[in-house]
Amino acid sequence: MSKQATPQTFSPDQLIDNHGREINYVRLSVTDRCNLRCSYCMPEKMKFLPRKEILSYEEMERLMTLLAGHGISKVRITGGEPFVRKGLMDFLFRLDAIPGITRIHITTNGVTTLPYIPQLKELGIAGINLSLDSLDRERFREITRRDNFDQVMASFHSFLDHGIRLKVNMVVMEAFNTDDIIPMALLSRDYPVDVRFIEEMPFNGLNAGKQQLRWHHRRIRDHLAAHFPTLTVLASEPYSTSTNYRIDGHAGTVGIIAGFSRTFCSTCNRIRITAQGKLQTCLYGDSRIDLKDILRSGVSDQEVMAVIAKAIGSRFADGWEAQKHNVQTSDVSKSMSLIGG
Ligand code: GTP
Ligand code: 5AD
Ligand code: SF4
Repeated sequence: MSKQATPQTFSPDQLIDNHGREINYVRLSVTDRCNLRCSYCMPEKMKFLPRKEILSYEEMERLMTLLAGHGISKVRITGGEPFVRKGLMDFLFRLDAIPGITRIHITTNGVTTLPYIPQLKELGIAGINLSLDSLDRERFREITRRDNFDQVMASFHSFLDHGIRLKVNMVVMEAFNTDDIIPMALLSRDYPVDVRFIEEMPFNGLNAGKQQLRWHHRRIRDHLAAHFPTLTVLASEPYSTSTNYRIDGHAGTVGIIAGFSRTFCSTCNRIRITAQGKLQTCLYGDSRIDLKDILRSGVSDQEVMAVIAKAIGSRFADGWEAQKHNVQTSDVSKSMSLIGG
């Protein structure tokens, strides 16, 4: 069962970056594979990694145990799509048993999640973020290049029936789903969900850096405000990526994630471990540190932690600075499916 969140107390073991930001959150990508092919994330024909190139569950468990000993309390499991990796549920229970890990979250597309929901409830999952970019079956198919809308909606309803905290992520894309913004916001009227509209970021495995942002966070907010005059900004949780709003009469909330505009970097509390075991200290940065190679070289826990602490001690101030220093050239490396979002 889930553990209560421990109160935040400062300890010398905590990971503090060179800008004074406490790092207490790891986004762990467990696979680069996915059962959808969302156009904003990957090309139609995506080449996935061979098994030996991704971290084993044992390697991830070792890393998370080490990190939990240094103040990491929140883990978000990402992908690709996490549930396409065999043995995920067993891994989640092992993760939950690590002292110090108090909150396990998952970002999933919901396609094959339904049968696992009772076990996720039993685990005491802290929350699910469901990626859903349209409420229209045909548009869903166009965006994801797959016809799995019904499965995703079945998972959506089951999460709510099980009383699991649910956020819905919609990437706003000019040519695809802007007609969905208002219907999606209305989901938060009818259900106790937090619907978040996300600025599209340049990680689709193809044209990183080349796209223009048509739906800026302010444009999304103005669009919502024009339709919902009672839209009122809420105080958000510390480190929140989203600016959240309430609307009179709505059971849930709406939020906007300025992922492209990078408005929340000053409170960034997270690091990423990619499916390949690369340590990434900023979404827009390079992943130059190969934890997989380090783990497989047989070094001690202290040596592994020293590498991680050094990287945390030299983080860029924000995603703009990280992008400026990013020297990656491979298209594949810029697909969100590998970084985990
Ligand atoms: P919470 O833990 O619920 O706050 O979720 P989250 O928003 O951190 O994670 P989620 O996986 O739901 O991601 C939603 C969107 O936020 C995705 O498009 C992510 O890529 C984006 N996002 C998450 N973390 C960062 C970050 O550090 N920088 C930027 N620029 N975007 C991020
Ligand atoms: N821009 C913004 N968000 C993206 N995601 C995937 N690719 C992109 C992109 N190019 C989102 C997914 C998922 C989260 C982890 O990241 O929709 O909800
Ligand atoms: Fe899969 Fe997520 Fe990428 Fe869509 S965004 S293709 S669901 S990994």
